[in-house]
Amino acid sequence: EGSYLFSKRTKIFVDNETQKPAAKYLSDLFEKAAGYPIFISETKGNATIIFTEDKSIKPEGYHLEISPKKINIKASDAAGYFYGIQTIRQLLPPSIETANSIEKNWSVPSIVINDTPRFSWRGMQMDFSRHFFSIDEVKTFLNYMALYKLNTYHMHLTDDQGWRIEIKKYPLLTEKGAWRVESSHDITCNELAKTDPSFIIDEQHYHNREGQRMYGGFFTQEQIKEIITYAAERQIEVIPEIDMPGHLKSAIDNYPYLSCTNEAGWGELFSSPACLGKETTYEFTKDILAEIVDLFPSKYVHIGGDEVNIESWKKCPLCQKAIKDHHLKNEHELQSFFNRDIETFLNSKGKRLLGWDEIVEGGLSKDGTMMWWRNWAPTMRDIAAKHGNDMIITPCFEYYFDAKHEATPFEKVYQYEPIPENFTKEQAKHILGIQANLWSEMIPNFKRLQFQAFPRFLALAETSWTSKEDKNYDDFQKRMNLQYKRLEALNIQYHIPPVTGLKDKVAFLD
Ligand code: ACM
Ligand code: ZN
Repeated sequence: EGSYLFSKRTKIFVDNETQKPAAKYLSDLFEKAAGYPIFISETKGNATIIFTEDKSIKPEGYHLEISPKKINIKASDAAGYFYGIQTIRQLLPPSIETANSIEKNWSVPSIVINDTPRFSWRGMQMDFSRHFFSIDEVKTFLNYMALYKLNTYHMHLTDDQGWRIEIKKYPLLTEKGAWRVESSHDITCNELAKTDPSFIIDEQHYHNREGQRMYGGFFTQEQIKEIITYAAERQIEVIPEIDMPGHLKSAIDNYPYLSCTNEAGWGELFSSPACLGKETTYEFTKDILAEIVDLFPSKYVHIGGDEVNIESWKKCPLCQKAIKDHHLKNEHELQSFFNRDIETFLNSKGKRLLGWDEIVEGGLSKDGTMMWWRNWAPTMRDIAAKHGNDMIITPCFEYYFDAKHEATPFEKVYQYEPIPENFTKEQAKHILGIQANLWSEMIPNFKRLQFQAFPRFLALAETSWTSKEDKNYDDFQKRMNLQYKRLEALNIQYHIPPVTGLKDKVAFLD
């Protein structure tokens, strides 16, 4: 019964360092929305919000008790305190998300919550290559992740259509590789933009270069550090992806000795990959990864590995010689040979290899971790689990938020169960968690990105956090109706799920 009312006199008591970032987050929210910060004190005195360490609580979990007089938050780690605060944030009026609010009733209901996440990997991916996003947009997105307790931000930093991270040893990657005149996706976006302005390509990424209007941009290593710090303050780990040996055209364009034919190009579906019969490919990729591992504190480094045009290797005498010399059966095994070499390098730097599920095809190493994306290759999960490898579930048909809402509706995202039915308890332990991806071919600006992500983002968040038994779609829909107000307060342009039960036309009369 009753509620706790925040005021200018509210004080937070913290008794150790791991509690401070969470306390500061709440204080900053109030400073922006209510016009006053919440005072943080290291003496209990008359503090009414009390942080207490409780080592019996699981990692990232928290215990929250709100009564009219006091708020108690218990946890065993910084993430747990942070998520306790995020729950308080969700219980506050949506106007807590706005600046200079006129709201006076900053209250939260009396409640007791014991909460821990189902999965330790609760991820979102953004693609910076096909279309680029600014550092401010990245920070805004990290704020959405914090609010809904997602903890892993996967940055797809390189691809055929643009190289987006400074690499000091190979300056052409960004001097040239970060810029283009017009991609095939740009042409499609421009065509769609004629009738739908949400497809207008963001003007901020056009620059005059060498007398031409070019699209592009990249993050400097200093900016990457800024992103990592900002994410860490929100209990989010940043995972870099440098896609290899395919999806590498923006590098091959500028360092053409990398390919089998000494030039960049396209196969039937995918770009020509790096040649795996040349020592220079191994040196080049490891030089890049050496800078990446120095920059990113994450345990995992994603090396892509998806959609390689192996026809290039079939025709290349050097690749064929490598297959013969290393007693490999085919081109898939050649790719796994490359992956193992890269993995040995990453392991020597204290890192673990992560790749798309194609890394399974030519044989997995002991510690490689797979991101399962191909619904049409379900056995990749079984092979990985049987072999003892960890995986993250990010299926194309359910968790690709660049897909149209009609194709991958909100309900489909919510109802998807990430652990396959045939998995034993032991096998299920190899599923670290789930992730949704925002490939940006058809996402040319941040507003369009919001529209693709929301409200599906919340369905993913609930699946990542809530146990299978506790999920309930009807209940979730009711709670979503409250969340739309919050999304509006955050100025998020979300998709409105269609009215169900109607067939041909939906008319909004008011
Ligand atoms: C992918 O969608 N190519 C991983
Ligand atoms: Zn080759």
